[in-house]
Amino acid sequence: PMMKELFGLNQLERDLESCLNLKKVIIVPGDSDRSDWVKKEMGRACARFLRKIAEPDQVIAVSGGSTMLAVAEMMIPSSAFKSTMFVPARGGVGEAVELEANYIASLMAKKTKGHYRMMHVPDQVSDEAYQTLLREPHIQEVLESLKRAHIVIHGIGNAMTMAVRRKSSQAILDKLQREQAVGESFGYYFNRNGEIVYRVQSLGLKLDDLANAKNIIAVAGGSSKAEAIRAISTKVSRDILITDEGAAKAILSLE
Ligand code: G3H
Repeated sequence: PMMKELFGLNQLERDLESCLNLKKVIIVPGDSDRSDWVKKEMGRACARFLRKIAEPDQVIAVSGGSTMLAVAEMMIPSSAFKSTMFVPARGGVGEAVELEANYIASLMAKKTKGHYRMMHVPDQVSDEAYQTLLREPHIQEVLESLKRAHIVIHGIGNAMTMAVRRKSSQAILDKLQREQAVGESFGYYFNRNGEIVYRVQSLGLKLDDLANAKNIIAVAGGSSKAEAIRAISTKVSRDILITDEGAAKAILSLE
């Protein structure tokens, strides 16, 4: 708290809460576009917050990405975590394995001495494969536990950055450009008004599943993510945003 006053971040947090209409915003100093250290601090802030709100026998759904990895790396055990089930929000998404939700859920369980489930499916599958996989008992079980998640933690990406990182086809890149997609979360791409313009056919958490969650926490920073965060946080994250000073100031200066 001392540090925050020093950096004048408390006021920035309140300003962003009212700007984005969120229950709570936590801001760490710096800009993660410029320094990787800031991403680690966002991870630490999220891990600390989770430890505070976690209750026994809960399901925590987690998405992928480098920010979620930073959260996982900062997790430490607690008595509530011991009976917590960490569940990946999606299958693989065609990126490095340590950025996949599967790996991150397992790392969180390992760090906290909790439990985890895996979703061993490729993220972008054909219609046929999708229908078949949906009927797999193992998959159904994971999808059911996602629907029961009390806490959902997720990253937010820039639409184009994410599409390129996931090696999407030129047709999809063109579509995202045409539809002016700015942000991505859970495989959903959003325009600046927070409308869904494209969705990757994938197994995992559906936006409708979020209705049951008690706490939805977005963790995303860096001034370059300002538009993405603004588009997604009010529609999807709804509750809590953990971000950095660079993103916070950039969001507040968007017209
Ligand atoms: O869906 C959002 C991305 O997973 C965010 O990834 O944290 O590496 O920017 P990042």
